[in-house]
Amino acid sequence: MAMMHHNSPLPPFLSLFLLALLLLASILATDAHYKAVCHCYKQPVHNYSGHDDKGGQSGDDTSGDNSSGSDSDSSSSSSSPSSSFASSPSSSSDDNTGTSDHSSSSFTSSPPPSSSSSSSTGTDGNKSSGGGDDTSSSLPSSSSSGSNNNTSQSSSSGGKNNRGHVGVCFGQAGEKLPPPSFIVELLKSHGITKVRLFIPIPSVLNALNGTGIKIMVGVPNNNIAHLSTGGVDTNLRWLKSNILAFVDPNQVTYLAVDNEILIKETGIMQHLVPAMNNLYKALQSLGLQTTIKLSSPCGSQILSTVMPPSAGAFSSNYLEVIRPLLKFLSDTEASIMVNLYPFLNFIQDPKNVPLNFCLFKENAKKVLDNGMSYFGMFDVMVDALLVAIEKEGFSGISVMVTGTGWPTAGNFAATTAHASDYIMGVMERVLNGEGTPKRPNQPVEVYLSSLFNANIGEQEYEKHYGLFNFDGSLAVQVNVSF
Ligand SMILES: *[C@@H]1O[C@H](CO)[C@@H](O)[C@H](O)[C@H]1NC(C)=O
Ligand SMILES: *[C@@H]1O[C@H](CO)[C@@H](O)[C@H](O)[C@H]1NC(C)=O
Ligand SMILES: *[C@@H]1O[C@H](CO)[C@@H](O)[C@H](O)[C@H]1NC(C)=O
Ligand SMILES: *[C@@H]1O[C@H](CO)[C@@H](O)[C@H](O)[C@H]1NC(C)=O
Ligand SMILES: *[C@@H]1O[C@H](CO)[C@@H](O)[C@H](O)[C@H]1NC(C)=O
Ligand SMILES: *[C@@H]1O[C@H](CO)[C@@H](O)[C@H](O)[C@H]1NC(C)=O
Repeated sequence: MAMMHHNSPLPPFLSLFLLALLLLASILATDAHYKAVCHCYKQPVHNYSGHDDKGGQSGDDTSGDNSSGSDSDSSSSSSSPSSSFASSPSSSSDDNTGTSDHSSSSFTSSPPPSSSSSSSTGTDGNKSSGGGDDTSSSLPSSSSSGSNNNTSQSSSSGGKNNRGHVGVCFGQAGEKLPPPSFIVELLKSHGITKVRLFIPIPSVLNALNGTGIKIMVGVPNNNIAHLSTGGVDTNLRWLKSNILAFVDPNQVTYLAVDNEILIKETGIMQHLVPAMNNLYKALQSLGLQTTIKLSSPCGSQILSTVMPPSAGAFSSNYLEVIRPLLKFLSDTEASIMVNLYPFLNFIQDPKNVPLNFCLFKENAKKVLDNGMSYFGMFDVMVDALLVAIEKEGFSGISVMVTGTGWPTAGNFAATTAHASDYIMGVMERVLNGEGTPKRPNQPVEVYLSSLFNANIGEQEYEKHYGLFNFDGSLAVQVNVSF
């Protein structure tokens, strides 16, 4: 979909050609008339609050249950991670105000430069670029890294099936979404097979029904207490009236219960796992407990240490909830969900966090840790989380990245070139079925933030995570298929 270079002066014949393409596209698209920039069907501000999505750091707007929606979630959380660089646990303090904590961190550990390689050059998406393995091949590559340390594990999350495809997030309040049918056509035209909806939007769920697209659906923050204190019947009703009434359960892979609840909404933190238990029982009564899994997207602030990854540890502030959450995930063979934004790590400490390392660039200094080599911040954070989980005694839980991205405007480091490098770097890992150094054969399931820009967040860049423009053209250059 490279069409639509509106402003660029084009030779007449080219313009004509584009016009013809456009026409064709509009005929094909069910809702042709909507293709114009966003007719925004404004999403009703239900009670639903957060959905994070954007990586906006400021996130924590405490919107809490308030329908305000805004990004509260993830975004904020994501911010914190930065701190992690520093091994200093201090970061934990941040809680609110997201961003705030810039821990001193220091990227010290990284040894000498090296030709990394593996991480292909993110930039130009030419398939086959860098890493050599053609992305297209999807799966196979995984085997590449022979050194697997115990990969086995329960790949719970059904990762295997999803391996090789990247998901995309959308649907946050404040986001001006085009009509559902337009969205569905957009997803299909790019071969996007997995989406994360921040909240259950009936019209979107219904439009997705029958498409085969796999869906992760958010359970809004402000419903958690209700689900936690209600019985199985209450939870069953919630499932039916919010999700099952609109879409075939076979398309739903996960319920993402709340978003970054641990960081922002301390008042309902204690309701999280009980709500998940109740939802599990409700799913069980429908025979859906193995096909629809439950988890809860965490902000990376749950980690007090990420560098070096082998020192990964949870912030003691959240252990009280993390421990029962891990037990629930382990018992139900579900993945832990985390929102990761190396962009935030970088902007919070640009002097010490190397930009190239965040962008998977080949010329970045790799980080050597415990005999393993890291070529990108993304991998560092995933492995730090795996280490932290193991420290708590749960070795079989896999990590799913439920939100990651790089904004294209609103900050000195937010450019389309950087966004392209980052997104391509992440996508190549997924398309190649690559795991992380710690679990090379266990691909990490990833959801990119976000489908479109959204009018949310306190920071300007939080509005610019969109991968697509509202006319359906790509906002970030991505040269491989999703
Ligand atoms: C929000 O939820 C409350 C109680 O759950 C309900 O009474 C109210 O109608 C809801 N508001 C909207 C806009 O749905
Ligand atoms: C919701 O937000 C509004 C303003 O945004 C605030 O006045 C109200 O107190 C909030 N409600 C809750 C329950 O936090
Ligand atoms: C992509 O690869 C083709 C051949 O493999 C090459 O000709 C082309 O220059 C590459 N494009 C970029 C942007 O690297
Ligand atoms: C697994 O990784 C650990 C370090 O995380 C290493 O000490 C151990 O030797 C590895 N085991 C195998 C079988 O590679
Ligand atoms: C892999 O993990 C399993 C349990 O998780 C353990 O029993 C086994 O010894 C491990 N193998 C290696 C090589 O570490
Ligand atoms: C979903 O679509 C299928 C047909 O593909 C239909 O049978 C089913 O009733 C639909 N489910 C819902 C909840 O609309």
